[in-house]
Amino acid sequence: MIPFKYGKVIESSYFVNREKEIAFLQRNFKSKINTVLISPRRWGKSSLVKYAATSLASSDKKIVPVFIDLFNVRDEKEFYETFSRKILMATYTKLEERINAVKLLFRLVTPKISVGVDPNTEFSLGFDIHEIKKNPDEILNLPERISKLKKIELVICVDEFQNIAYFSNPLAFQKKLRAQWQHHQHAVYCLYGSKRNMLAELFENKSMPFYKFGDVFFLQKIDTPHWQKYLLRQFKKTKKEIHADAVEKIITTMENHPYFVQQLAAMSWENTTKSCSVKIVDQSIDELLVTHDLLFHRETDLLSNYQIRFLRALVNVVKQFSTAETIRMYDLGSSANVVRVRKALVDKEMIDIYGKTIEFMDPLYKQWMKRVYMNRFNYI
Ligand SMILES: Nc1ncnc2c1ncn2[C@@H]1O[C@H](COP(=O)(O)OP(=O)(O)O)[C@@H](O)[C@H]1O
Ligand SMILES: [Mg+2]
Repeated sequence: MIPFKYGKVIESSYFVNREKEIAFLQRNFKSKINTVLISPRRWGKSSLVKYAATSLASSDKKIVPVFIDLFNVRDEKEFYETFSRKILMATYTKLEERINAVKLLFRLVTPKISVGVDPNTEFSLGFDIHEIKKNPDEILNLPERISKLKKIELVICVDEFQNIAYFSNPLAFQKKLRAQWQHHQHAVYCLYGSKRNMLAELFENKSMPFYKFGDVFFLQKIDTPHWQKYLLRQFKKTKKEIHADAVEKIITTMENHPYFVQQLAAMSWENTTKSCSVKIVDQSIDELLVTHDLLFHRETDLLSNYQIRFLRALVNVVKQFSTAETIRMYDLGSSANVVRVRKALVDKEMIDIYGKTIEFMDPLYKQWMKRVYMNRFNYI
C-alpha cells in the first residue's frame, strides 16, 4: 500500500502536524466562538476541520459535529435541504427517531421526507421554496433547537462556503443566516472555503452581514521539518529508504504544498524499489508533467500573451514586476498593464499574492512552465 495520500479529506495516518491549528479550532468549538477558515484549494482545510471536530467529539460525547459541504449546492432551496438533512442525520441515528424529530421540529414549513434502502445514507428532505422563503428561521435555528432538546452541543462545519455567492441574492441570504446564527448559544459554527479574496470580503468588510461573525483564520502550508519527518517515517514504515536530498527535493519542488508534496512523494515511492534518490524524484516529476501536459496546455491556451509573459518572469524569480527593466525585458507594456495582468491571473487562480510575495497556485504548473513550456519555445 502506498504510504501517501492525496485527493480529498485524509485519515489520521496521513495527517501531518497542524497541532496549533487543531488546538485553536478545538478551543473555539468548546468555547462557542465561531471560526472562519480560509486558504487556497488543497491546502488542507477540510482535512483539518474533520480531524479537529471528530477527535474533540470522541473525547467529549456532548459535542456532535455536522459536516455540510456546499460544493454542489447552487441555490437557497438546496442549501436548506442539505443543511437540515445533514443535521438530522448527525443527531438522530435511528430512522424512526429522525422521522419523529422532523414532525416535532417543523411546524411552519412542511418537509417532504424521502427514505431509501439504507436510511443512513439515503435520507432526504424536500422543501417548498415559497414556504421556506416565508419561514427560513425554522430551518436556520435547527442547530440551536436540537442542541437544547438533546442536551448536546453541535459544531456546524460548512465547507466551500464561498458557494453562497452563486445564490440569487447572496447578500439577503447572508443577512438571514447571520440574524439567526448570532443568537445561538449551544451551537457553534466553522465556515471555510477557498476563495480568499471573496471570503475575506464577506467576513472582514464592515458593511457585510458576516462582519465580526467569528475568528478569521488563514491556514498556511506545512513547514519543512514536519514534512521531512513524515516522508522519512512513511518510507521506513514500508521498508524503503529515502536520501535526505531526495526528501528536500520533494518538499522544495512542491513548495510545501500539502496536496502536491503527498502526490510527488507517492509517485517517488512507487518508482523506488529500495532507496529513493534525487534522480528518482526527478523522474517522478517528469512523469507527473507528462500526465498533466494536456491539462496545462489547455490552461495556457486560455492566457493572453501578457499573462504568459508575466508567468515567465515569475518562473525566472523576478520580484519587482513594475520596474522599467522588468517591463522592458519581459515586454509587459506598462506598469498599469502589469497591475491589470496580475489581477487577471489572481482572478483565474493561477497566482496568489501574500503581502509582497507572488506565488504560483499550482507548483506543478510552475514546473511545467519551466521544464516543458519555456524549454520548448526557447524562452529566456
Ligand atoms: N495535515 C495534512 N497532512 C498531510 N497532508 C495533508 C494535510 N492536509 C491536507 N493534506 C493533503 O492535501 C490534500 C487536500 O486536502 P483537503 O483537506 O481536501 O484540502 P482543502 O479542503 O483545503 O481543499 C489531502 O488529500 C492531502 O493529500
Ligand atoms: Mg476542502
